[in-house]
Amino acid sequence: MAKKRFAARWGTDFLTAFVFAAVFSAGTVARAQTADQAWLRYTGGQERSAIPTSVHALGGSAMEQSAVQELQRGIAGMTGAQPASGGDTVVGTLDEVRATFRWVQLPAHLAPHGFWLKRTVWNGQPLVIVAGSNEHGALFGAFDLLRRIRTGQDLSHLDAIDAPAMATRWVDEWDNASGTIERGYGGSSIFFEGGKVRDDLSAVTEYSRLLASVGINGCNVNNVNDAAAFLEPDMIKGLARIADAMRPWGVRLAISVDIASPQKVGGLKTFDPLDPDVKAWWTAEIDEIYKQIPDFAGVTVKADSEGQPGPASYGRSPADAANVLANALAPHGGVVLYRAFVYNNQLDYNDLKADRARAAYDIFHPLDGQFAPNVIIQIKYGPIDFQAEEPVSPLFAGLHKTSEAMELEITQEYLGQQRHLVYLAPLWKEKLDFDLRAENRATPVKEIIKGKTFNRPLGGMIGVSCLGRDGWLGAPMAMANLYAFGRLAWNPNLSAEQIAAEWTKQTISANPEVVATVDKMLMQSWPTYVHYTGFLGTQTLTDITGSHYGPNIEASERNGWGQWHRDDAKGIGVDRSVATGTGYAGQYPPEVARMYESLATTPDSLLLFFHHVPWTWKLHSGKTVIQYVYDSHYEGAEEAARLGNEWATLKGKIDPQLYEDERARLEYQAGHAIVWRDAIVQYFHKETGIPDALDRAGHYPGRLEAEDARLSGFKVSDITPWENASGGKAVACELNSAQKTCIAEWTYTGHAGRFNIAVQYFDLPGGVAHFTLGINGTGIVSWAADAKLPSNHAGDSSTRFTARGPDGRGIELKPGDTLRVEGAPDGKDLAALDYIEIERAE
Ligand code: GCU
Repeated sequence: MAKKRFAARWGTDFLTAFVFAAVFSAGTVARAQTADQAWLRYTGGQERSAIPTSVHALGGSAMEQSAVQELQRGIAGMTGAQPASGGDTVVGTLDEVRATFRWVQLPAHLAPHGFWLKRTVWNGQPLVIVAGSNEHGALFGAFDLLRRIRTGQDLSHLDAIDAPAMATRWVDEWDNASGTIERGYGGSSIFFEGGKVRDDLSAVTEYSRLLASVGINGCNVNNVNDAAAFLEPDMIKGLARIADAMRPWGVRLAISVDIASPQKVGGLKTFDPLDPDVKAWWTAEIDEIYKQIPDFAGVTVKADSEGQPGPASYGRSPADAANVLANALAPHGGVVLYRAFVYNNQLDYNDLKADRARAAYDIFHPLDGQFAPNVIIQIKYGPIDFQAEEPVSPLFAGLHKTSEAMELEITQEYLGQQRHLVYLAPLWKEKLDFDLRAENRATPVKEIIKGKTFNRPLGGMIGVSCLGRDGWLGAPMAMANLYAFGRLAWNPNLSAEQIAAEWTKQTISANPEVVATVDKMLMQSWPTYVHYTGFLGTQTLTDITGSHYGPNIEASERNGWGQWHRDDAKGIGVDRSVATGTGYAGQYPPEVARMYESLATTPDSLLLFFHHVPWTWKLHSGKTVIQYVYDSHYEGAEEAARLGNEWATLKGKIDPQLYEDERARLEYQAGHAIVWRDAIVQYFHKETGIPDALDRAGHYPGRLEAEDARLSGFKVSDITPWENASGGKAVACELNSAQKTCIAEWTYTGHAGRFNIAVQYFDLPGGVAHFTLGINGTGIVSWAADAKLPSNHAGDSSTRFTARGPDGRGIELKPGDTLRVEGAPDGKDLAALDYIEIERAE
């Protein structure tokens, strides 16, 4: 989608448009993938006195060398000059600093991975000390110093101590050996290709720099599904090379393992975790890994979940499976991240007591106390699956004798797949700050996962990142989410606003006007996405058995997956109360359980997650549920358009390439927000038969449907699901050999004036169709349908192109004008058209 090359040339014909597109694409030059394409870009503009002139390491460790290398890179980038010799800045461990600068008063102790940054005077000369508790701390301290400089902090009295809030701060990648990435939207793997580890691991080094810069200390490199191949001997050799690339940056390698590996890889008859041969096999396997990767961090397990094998096959529990691995890892200092994402995906929809949300607590709570000390239960932030709106998982309060980590998704699987701007820190903060009131006392989730609340030795945050070779996450602004994940894992007390400001200053510009605009956009983006997609805690309304991208309201109903919203003509929502529903609300500690049990105290944003209510139910806000559906979706689409308007104010103030890239993305997002809006509004309007108080539902002023046009070549077809096309119908160009294009024509009957003309079409994969919009026989703009959208599902491919006239002031129309859209299909892309819409130009 980023590469969309509109041949937006006024008065051109098709041929010119093709030539334009070809010239445009030829100019793209492949560039190495580096960390300075994200936030580690050291450019000028800082207070010069804050920038060191030279730096050296007190010790010889690899991480101290990395720290110095990074500071030198920073100095060179920020000053335009190479660092001098000598050293006004030193990097070392606390012990090394103590030995070198005997008269400097040092902190007695630094927490693990912590650091001290101090500006002082030594021999009459200014000196900046970066002292780590160990070499990790020294590296993190160096990055922290760079962040302070880059974000314009006053360093004249620098004296700061910091340390990570939690021990386990990992990213998980869902990369396959083939190089594809499950739920990855940024190209293919930086780690694997063709069944092996890639020869060129330079991108892994660059990624490790990014991770280290925000304090991340582990990276699990392979998909939780299909993990068996990663224990093959050749693969382990390759993994050791990845670990070598990460090690200088303090990032330890972990892998996902398939619990059936003793059988699949080892050739044993069983993978029963209690079988002595199986135990011996795991021990030998893990020992072998440590021979090659001495600092191997541990393993992640997805078992008995979504088709993955697990201990249930032998009547064993997750604790049995986790412990066999934990025992093999313990002598080496490794950990097991056992995922609580275990549920039955063949639930009976007709059973009103069946509830996927209950699964994690039902399965893991009874096992509390049975896990080995080096097992961490990895719990998704909500009980379902990375939803835009769901409550925090009650399991966080359900394990008092077990270490816990919160799993969240950096890759935007259910949240727009990087095609939509959605800054996730506010969502994550909501979960981290949520007070579960375990034992009737203050127990915010962030304190539980630190290990503080229940005195657990381990704990942390895991971010599923899935980034690849196409601009890391595939969209520059999405990198704010990777940055925010690391910062929150380091310090969950940071605010989402503060993190946004830090990221913007380092990545885009320190100009206060730019920072204010970008941060406002970032902070607004998650509520906006929620407004035009789901509502009131319904769960996803996307295509859950397909791409998880566009709308498909019935896809989550009447199947075994349990992501239900249970709507009918009378009402909507899942009754999860104890009194009359699935009982899920009762899994929370009493104070929170009481809040969710009652309709009176359940917040509007989660109403339909916990209760089934009639469409006319009055929210706390005073609106009915159905009116809220109409209003929030119209508001959401307007808010999405506003994101684009806000970005437009940055023209000329930021990097032109970034400006244009994000402008095109936001334009697409605003169009897709209309697809979402219309799908949801027309679906529930039809289902309920309840009119919209503002009369928008079912009325589209200025819209001219393709199926009502004078058609040549185009054939009318019913769209499935119907809500993804305006009126449920569209037209597609299925050509006979004599014809090259299809034509739809309408006669304009409105007022004379200047208008924008939006064309809603389906950008289908498998070809690049071309469109031309014309008036009275003259083509005025042509464009290629070359976005790479996730599927040919109507909700995924519906796309809007808006023609705004040569000077952006609109296109002149008068009654009687003929509007024409000409579509040229290509391969499987049938130039399918939904409607055009004529909107008064501002
Ligand atoms: C989601 C996602 C899957 C993934 C699963 C998991 O359901 O769609 O691709 O495998 O989460 O977390 O294991």
